[in-house]
Amino acid sequence: MAWLLLFHLLLTLLLVPNSLAQAPQPLAQAPQPLGCQTICGDLNITYPFGIGQGCALSKEFELNCTRNKNGTYNTFFFNVEVVNISLFPSQARIKTPISWQCYNSTAKNVSQSTWQLSLTTTPFRFSNTKNKFTAIGADTLAYFDLHNGTIWYVTGCVSVCSSLQGLFNGSCTGIGCCQIAIPLGMNYYKVRFDPNYNNSFVSSFGQCSYAVLIEADSFNFSTAYITTTNFFDDNNGKVPVVVDWAIGNETCMVAQHNNSTSYACVSSNSRCVDSTNGPGYFCSCEEGYKGNPYLYGGCTDIDECQQNKSSCTGICTNTQGSFICSCPRGTHAVDNSSRDCNNDTRVPLWVKLVIEASGDGDGERDWKADGESEEKEARDKAPSI
Ligand SMILES: *[C@@H]1O[C@H](CO)[C@@H](O)[C@H](O)[C@H]1NC(C)=O
Ligand SMILES: *[C@@H]1O[C@H](CO)[C@@H](O)[C@H](O)[C@H]1NC(C)=O
Ligand SMILES: *[C@@H]1O[C@H](CO)[C@@H](O)[C@H](O)[C@H]1NC(C)=O
Ligand SMILES: *[C@@H]1O[C@H](CO)[C@@H](O)[C@H](O)[C@H]1NC(C)=O
Ligand SMILES: *[C@@H]1O[C@H](CO)[C@@H](O)[C@H](O)[C@H]1NC(C)=O
Ligand SMILES: *[C@@H]1O[C@H](CO)[C@@H](O)[C@H](O)[C@H]1NC(C)=O
Ligand SMILES: *[C@@H]1O[C@H](CO)[C@@H](O)[C@H](O)[C@H]1NC(C)=O
Ligand SMILES: *[C@@H]1O[C@H](CO)[C@@H](O)[C@H](O)[C@H]1NC(C)=O
Ligand SMILES: *[C@@H]1O[C@H](CO)[C@@H](O)[C@H](O)[C@H]1NC(C)=O
Ligand SMILES: *[C@@H]1O[C@H](CO)[C@@H](O)[C@H](O)[C@H]1NC(C)=O
Ligand SMILES: *[C@@H]1O[C@H](CO)[C@@H](O)[C@H](O)[C@H]1NC(C)=O
Ligand SMILES: *[C@@H]1O[C@H](CO)[C@@H](O)[C@H](O)[C@H]1NC(C)=O
Repeated sequence: MAWLLLFHLLLTLLLVPNSLAQAPQPLAQAPQPLGCQTICGDLNITYPFGIGQGCALSKEFELNCTRNKNGTYNTFFFNVEVVNISLFPSQARIKTPISWQCYNSTAKNVSQSTWQLSLTTTPFRFSNTKNKFTAIGADTLAYFDLHNGTIWYVTGCVSVCSSLQGLFNGSCTGIGCCQIAIPLGMNYYKVRFDPNYNNSFVSSFGQCSYAVLIEADSFNFSTAYITTTNFFDDNNGKVPVVVDWAIGNETCMVAQHNNSTSYACVSSNSRCVDSTNGPGYFCSCEEGYKGNPYLYGGCTDIDECQQNKSSCTGICTNTQGSFICSCPRGTHAVDNSSRDCNNDTRVPLWVKLVIEASGDGDGERDWKADGESEEKEARDKAPSI
């Protein structure tokens, strides 16, 4: 029965066509071939992502670059717009439509548009830390059906108010605006509005309800969202969502031990990191290296001496994956952990002459000798990082 339900839902996906439900292709073993388009509009397409066939690590990482009528370009993953891709953290930002329900007080009926998004069998999961399920309205109960590939979750958000009193800009606490977190590992959602919360009782000041999964940092509640269609209009009907992405469905241990040609962290000085949001892993350059761990030779040494001159006031020597900070002759490290050098406390020449001229000051000469040996010791202990 559960399988039947799932099957039915997969067939009725709106945002993502059924072709997505195909079995994932095996990961290609070749790195990104030459001649692949790496920019779409102003978005850099970094491998493992690629535009068109054969340019991505696998079919699941293929994107489309589409030309708009006005000559600009947009990147699409099927019919989902991709606006940002990052390797560390392995995240992307996509645009998804706003679900809405409005009461027409003239016709006394309700119209709505609700969305579902399936990222099943894709490398993407909704970020549980960056996104919030958000409902806006004066008479709103929005449900959020979530799925992680095995288990269904139903959650919801109530937003009610009987007047504009008690609504504050920037405050989303259940009065006119409601936000909840989502669990880990989710790759499917569907928005529903409860038909009994339809704005018919509050239509004198608010006709519409909205519900979205949205990047929390991009949202700031305005009281105008209750009385106008500004929320929809200002966002052009679409809001940003952050997705975490990962390679395959194996842990690092399994992927590495299978010794499979599909292990994606191919660069030397790269390492494998298990995904914390759903199955799979991602790659990262080891500390001291930067670049693209998914390409052969992709992780290159960071020249720390060039990058952050201030962290070493002495002599900075770059090494593979690290650097050495030493103090020049005549100076010593401030302490064992410091990268700062202090001038050696030299006794000025005229003091020396006075001491030596005074002749019999044995104790004072000892003091000077001790001082010098301490300085020497400090110099030898100069930290090398
Ligand atoms: C895209 O990559 C180029 C070099 O590969 C870099 O100079 C540029 O800043 C990148 N643009 C963005 C938006 O990250
Ligand atoms: C061009 O069109 C796209 C989609 O139709 C739109 O998102 C974008 O803002 C437009 N850009 C400009 C500069 O008009
Ligand atoms: C890219 O566009 C082609 C042709 O429209 C389509 O068949 C394919 O499914 C699209 N792929 C993705 C990942 O959007
Ligand atoms: C992509 O991410 C960068 C860094 O977070 C940000 O400055 C930029 O505005 C983002 N682009 C889009 C289209 O969201
Ligand atoms: C409400 O319904 C009336 C009558 O059918 C229609 O003329 C009007 O355009 C509708 N208003 C909205 C905002 O859809
Ligand atoms: C709106 O909801 C109320 C209950 O809150 C219900 O009685 C009414 O029939 C609904 N109206 C429409 C048009 O669905
Ligand atoms: C609402 O009622 C109007 C007029 O009776 C009708 O034209 C419209 O199609 C109805 N809308 C919905 C969503 O039922
Ligand atoms: C879905 O969540 C359940 C419970 O946390 C977990 O046992 C299961 O492995 C998850 N499924 C996937 C595909 O991640
Ligand atoms: C909230 O900000 C909007 C403009 O964004 C303003 O019109 C409205 O009066 C403000 N509401 C309150 C309660 O300050
Ligand atoms: C993991 O992915 C492989 C192919 O990519 C697939 O055959 C297998 O069924 C998946 N395993 C699970 C537990 O989803
Ligand atoms: C992994 O494969 C390489 C070459 O394909 C081989 O030299 C190596 O011995 C293999 N390691 C293990 C643990 O099977
Ligand atoms: C060390 O001495 C040099 C001149 O010999 C001077 O320019 C510098 O500021 C001194 N540094 C410190 C930390 O006292």
